Amino acid sequence: MKGIILAGGSGTRLFPITKAISKQMVPIYDKPMIYYPLSVLMLAGIKEILIISTERDIGYFKKLFKDSLEIGLTIEYAIQKTPNGLADAFIIGEEFIGDDTVAMILGDNIFYGQNLTDYLLDAASLKDGAVIFGYYIQDPREFGVIEFDEDNKAISIEEKPARPKSKYAVPGLYFYDNSVIKKAKELKPSPRGELEITDLNRLYMDESKLKVIRLGRGMVWLDTGTHSSMLKAANFVEVIQDTHGIYIACLEEIAYRQGWITAEKLGQLAKPLMKTGYGKYLISIIEE
Ligand code: TTP
Repeated sequence: MKGIILAGGSGTRLFPITKAISKQMVPIYDKPMIYYPLSVLMLAGIKEILIISTERDIGYFKKLFKDSLEIGLTIEYAIQKTPNGLADAFIIGEEFIGDDTVAMILGDNIFYGQNLTDYLLDAASLKDGAVIFGYYIQDPREFGVIEFDEDNKAISIEEKPARPKSKYAVPGLYFYDNSVIKKAKELKPSPRGELEITDLNRLYMDESKLKVIRLGRGMVWLDTGTHSSMLKAANFVEVIQDTHGIYIACLEEIAYRQGWITAEKLGQLAKPLMKTGYGKYLISIIEE
């Protein structure tokens, strides 16, 4: 399975921060925002990754991840000229995806919690159809919203409904079979001018090929698209890391635990980071 991080967009809800830099480059506590979605793809066992961003910002991602091979990843880059919507990722990524299945995660989404890796590995084993998630939130009006029948089967999905039919929002993490490319090309822009991922998911639902996994209470999903949600996410990361002494989205740690790099390599990667808690944490993993 290949992985795509969609890290473009206009970031207007974070102005003036994002007037000159990418939202996904802004720190969430101690690391750039994009580390968090990248860590999720890595936990799903995905090593071949495409980062899609804007013409203005793509160069910064290339700089940030220029040593990605050293943690066992192959990262490619592509430009989305205008923010045409989330489903555009599969048209831009057509060549990268090739004949494979694909996971897509939004560059401003954070997932953390018990059994996350199990959910991810299960979804990444998909051969046919699509897997998305449902997450219970107080006010889902800003998201895609899923309605279930008594048998827990998804029966409708609506994008940003004024009157949501349930409290289950669809987080920005999606797993698809290869027909996603063809399906994305069939989509027509919505009234707001975007190729909607909700329309794409509906195509799978109409074929009875959409699996929706409801994430339970032990799971945290944070969308970091506003000033307030960004601060909440930063506080969350600080609390977990400081209390447990376990890092969230430490890419080198994940690569090491996945067996993609040796302890010796981890030590080398830690060296230039030794003035930070992040670097010291890497050394503590080797000594574990
Ligand atoms: P949004 O937060 O919906 O949009 P945005 O980033 O443009 O921000 P704002 O609403 O503040 O103007 O996007 C969710 C994620 O998807 C985010 O990481 C940016 C990315 N994205 C793209 O890369 N291309 C797109 O066409 C869209 C709509 C979003």
